[in-house]
Amino acid sequence: MIILGIESSCDETAAAVVENGSRIRSSVVASQIETHSKYGGVVPELASRMHIEAIDPVVHQAIDEAGITIDQIDGVAATRGPGLIGALLVGFSYGRAFAWARTLPFAGVDHLQAHIYSLLLLEPAPQFPFIALVVSGGHTNVYHVTSPHDFELMGRTRDDAAGEAFDKVAKMLGLGYPGGPVIESMAKDGDPSAIKFPRSMLEKGSFDFSFSGLKSAVARHLHQCPELNLQEQANIAASFQAAVIDVLCQKLINAAKKTRCKRIGVAGGVSANKTFTTALDVRSKPYGMKIFSPPLSLCGDNAAMIAARGYTMIKNGALCTRDQDVYSRVKI
Ligand code: KG4
Ligand code: ZN
Repeated sequence: MIILGIESSCDETAAAVVENGSRIRSSVVASQIETHSKYGGVVPELASRMHIEAIDPVVHQAIDEAGITIDQIDGVAATRGPGLIGALLVGFSYGRAFAWARTLPFAGVDHLQAHIYSLLLLEPAPQFPFIALVVSGGHTNVYHVTSPHDFELMGRTRDDAAGEAFDKVAKMLGLGYPGGPVIESMAKDGDPSAIKFPRSMLEKGSFDFSFSGLKSAVARHLHQCPELNLQEQANIAASFQAAVIDVLCQKLINAAKKTRCKRIGVAGGVSANKTFTTALDVRSKPYGMKIFSPPLSLCGDNAAMIAARGYTMIKNGALCTRDQDVYSRVKI
């Protein structure tokens, strides 16, 4: 079964063709980062307009690169939420119209479930059950995944997402948007123990996160030391990153211990951070745990994960009804 996947929840217009839920025939991502970086973050109105311009060419490129004709598509899946409403509407409406015009089944996919599916696209895929962290600019969610359809939310951020904290700290340091990759590379030259930034663990046994205190601590530190040389900047980047990594690793290992899972998957934009995934690998090893993370091309937003999730929904008859609309906030 060949599924066309479409993603437009934030600042990437993406389309992909996936066969039988696992074989990626094509995956095209048109990023708007260059445009938004001038404003230091995603501008929703601009994002919607750019999706409108990109969606048709991106879908056709995905079909061409897959080496198929439109007639070979058996179903369509598009992101329904969470995300920016105007941005979501572009891909969702396009996908729905595309499916209806060809009387194909259409699935409205949850973006966070799709990030979990980016782990199931791995070869070999992690066996169930496993702990999954979806960590991006908008979310820091921990799930106990027990089957292709069962995702129990164990914890989430109460304020900033981890990626958002990276972006805000990068902005304070004048490093531009998106912040994650620049902070990670700058941190390589810094001392992670130079500054003792707080590690907010919240109440005992909680799998929730809070990164706003850490962000404020960095702001206070910068306020006290306005003139920074490159080494001091690198030390701040490394110390901040170490604080985020410590909290993420500790909570994930605790979640895996509590649910007796031996596998932890990390997906979403921040999973591109090798310092984090390497630390998690090292720290979880003594407990016999194994870490999974997608290849770089599937860490950030992409449509292959949407098609993969859409495939299982279509196979199970979980189709989108006419009255279903996009949604901005988390449902699971
Ligand atoms: O999943 P994604 O592409 O889009 C959202 O749904 O948000 O994630 C983007 C986020 C941004 O906050 C970005 O700074 C972060 O992922 N990110 C990173 C790294 N690469 C991207 N954070 C830390 N380290 C990285 N190497
Ligand atoms: Zn995402």
